[in-house]
This record gives sequence, C-alpha cells and structure tokens, in this order.
Amino acid sequence: MVPSILQGARILATGSAVPDSCINNQHLSRIVETSDDWIINRTGIKERRILSNPQKSIIDLASLASKNALKKASMSPSDIDLIILATSSPNDLFGSAAQLQASIGANKAVAFDLTAACSGFVLGLVTAAQFIQNGSYNNILLVGADVLSQWTDWSDRSTCILFGDGAGAAIIQSCSKEDNGILGFQLNTDGEKSYQLSIPYEKNAYHTKNQTSLQIVQGQFKHIVMNGKEVYKFAVSQVPVSILKCLNSLNILPGDVQWLLLHQANERILNAVANKLSISSQKVISNLDKYGNTSAASIPLALDETLDNKQIQKNDIIVISGFGAGLTWGTVVIKWKC
Ligand code: ACO
Repeated sequence: MVPSILQGARILATGSAVPDSCINNQHLSRIVETSDDWIINRTGIKERRILSNPQKSIIDLASLASKNALKKASMSPSDIDLIILATSSPNDLFGSAAQLQASIGANKAVAFDLTAACSGFVLGLVTAAQFIQNGSYNNILLVGADVLSQWTDWSDRSTCILFGDGAGAAIIQSCSKEDNGILGFQLNTDGEKSYQLSIPYEKNAYHTKNQTSLQIVQGQFKHIVMNGKEVYKFAVSQVPVSILKCLNSLNILPGDVQWLLLHQANERILNAVANKLSISSQKVISNLDKYGNTSAASIPLALDETLDNKQIQKNDIIVISGFGAGLTWGTVVIKWKC
C-alpha cells in the first residue's frame, strides 16, 4: 500500500539494549539433548542473551534502548508525542508502555502496547508512520522489546534453542513530503493458523464456596508452543510474496534494494527468502548468531547494529519484513533519509 500523505515520516535514530547474561549452544546442550553443530546448522544461532537478573525487567531493556536512540537523535524525552511498545511479553497484562513512558520521563507522550509477536516492529512502524503522515504527531518512539525467556519451555529442545531477550528502539519523525522515508507497506494475518505458534492461556473452571455458587474461569499463560516445520514453510513461502507485492506497488525492483532486513528467526529462512528474490547474501542483514530470535526486538536490534557500523548510506532502499505468531507477516519499504 502506498499511503497518500500530508507530511513525510523518516527514522531519525535507533538504539538497542540486550541483557549481559549470554547463553551459548554448549550451555544449552547441558540443559536439553542438542549440540552446537545441530543448532548452528539448522538455525545459524551461536548464542543468545537472557534476562537472568530478577530485579530487571523488559522496562529496563526498553528504557535503555530508548535512551540510546534519544541520545543519538539529540532529543529530550519530553519531545516525544507518542510511544508504541511492540511486545508480547509485557510486565503487566494491561500494558507496559505507560511504565516505559514513566521510566524515561516522556511526560508529554501518549503510550500504548502493540501485540503482534515477531511482526510487532513492522506493525509498529506502519502505525507510527500513519500517525505522522496524517499530521497527528511529529515525534514517535517505537520500541520492539521481548523477554521470551520468561515464556520458553526450557525442557523443549525444539524451541528453547531459538529465543533470546532484547530491545530495539527507533525515533520516527515528521519531515517534508519530499524527504518521506517510509515509502509503503504490505500486511497480512492468517488467524486460522494461530495454533501453529502461540503461548496458550490454559483455563480451569471452579465454583465459589458460598450460597450463590458462582462458576469462575481462571487460568494462566503457559509456554511457547510451535510447529517449527510449518512456521518455517509459511515464512519461506509467504514473506517473498509480501515483499514483491510491496515493491511492485512502489515500482521498485528487487535489484534496486540495498538491504534486506528480515525478522531474525533462522539463518536458513533469511537465505531462502533472499534466494527467492535473487537478492545477494551481502545485502542480507543478519546478527542472529549473537542474539537468536528476539521476537519484536530483532529487527530494530539488527538495524541499530548496521547503522552503528555505518553500512547504510543515505537514500539506500531497505526492505523490512516481519513474520511470526498470529500468524502475522508484512513488509515496510523505507528509503534511508539521514
Ligand atoms: N537439537 C537436536 N535435535 C533437534 C532439536 C535440537 N535442538 N530440535 C529438534 N530436533 C530434532 C527433531 O526431534 C527431529 O528429529 P527426528 O527427525 O528424529 O524426528 C529433527 O531434529 C528435525 O526436526 P525439525 O523440527 O524437522 O527440524 P527443522 O530443520 O525444521 O528445524 C527449527 C527446527 C529450527 C525450529 C525450524 O523449523 C525453524 O526455524 N522454524 C521456524 C521458526 C520461526 O521462524 N519462528 C518465527 C517466529 S517466532 C515468533 O513469532 C515468536
């Protein structure tokens, strides 16, 4: 979709944060029956960061990533109009964005959570762009943060090897229409397949012990359950389609793309998508060897690292695609404007 815009939107700066505690594949092979070779060959992951300090939370990671981004943008927290926290592992079921707002002192900002698992950053970027391009807000802080270690079944070798914790932030700012850097998007949901990847809520019914016996249903969220093979096939078949639809709507050819930035789920998925689009592996941004799949954090974490390494040049076309639970998937095409 190519939105009609009143003003432009562009990513001004990014920041990121990961916990100190690092778990490599050898560590995991002492917890479940697996090996460094299997994990590297099937996923490309060598190590991941885990929030292991009970005094720290997703807010600490999100706050640090946000402060890094604000510093790079030379902005004060009070300049922010809106905070979008993309997460599936909040501190509070009512939402954690307000805690982030308080933690960084962004006292003028409206704040809300956005839940879309590993597609969270892409949906957040599209949402932020709408608010800016229609003239509602000028400065938006978008944070993708997850601590899936808290929801991982550490006895399930098919999932516990994949995930890591982290946070990535981006400041999206209004600009002239000519400088608009968020060019277009393409988004999808297939709720029929939600069972392929979820953290189910398990319920029990019981009766209150008084005269007006009332049936109450309560329960708790359990662990991540995933049909890895099916999610893999879905990602490799659907993500290239989404990217091509988005590029076509913008009259951009895959050959014009400088960077392919996919959700960092599995090195084999990144390579398969790039191959299908005939995009060279040198253009594929990848840091999942160090962090694993950090869910909503993975795209901004990788973007921040690539920007810090000064690899992205002004006017480079970056194709960003997220995919995951929902099932949700989608693409945003940006032109780097800073
Ligand atoms: N170590 C050793 N053996 C293992 C491990 C392990 N950690 N995990 C599974 N195996 C075994 C299986 O038991 C199976 O053995 P069998 O042949 O005797 O039955 C064999 O390895 C092959 O298992 P598969 O599940 O077929 O392995 P696959 O090559 O599909 O890789 C993986 C599994 C890495 C999970 C892959 O399917 C994948 O990456 N899927 C996509 C995950 C993803 O992209 N998620 C997206 C978003 S996440 C979000 O939204 C929160």
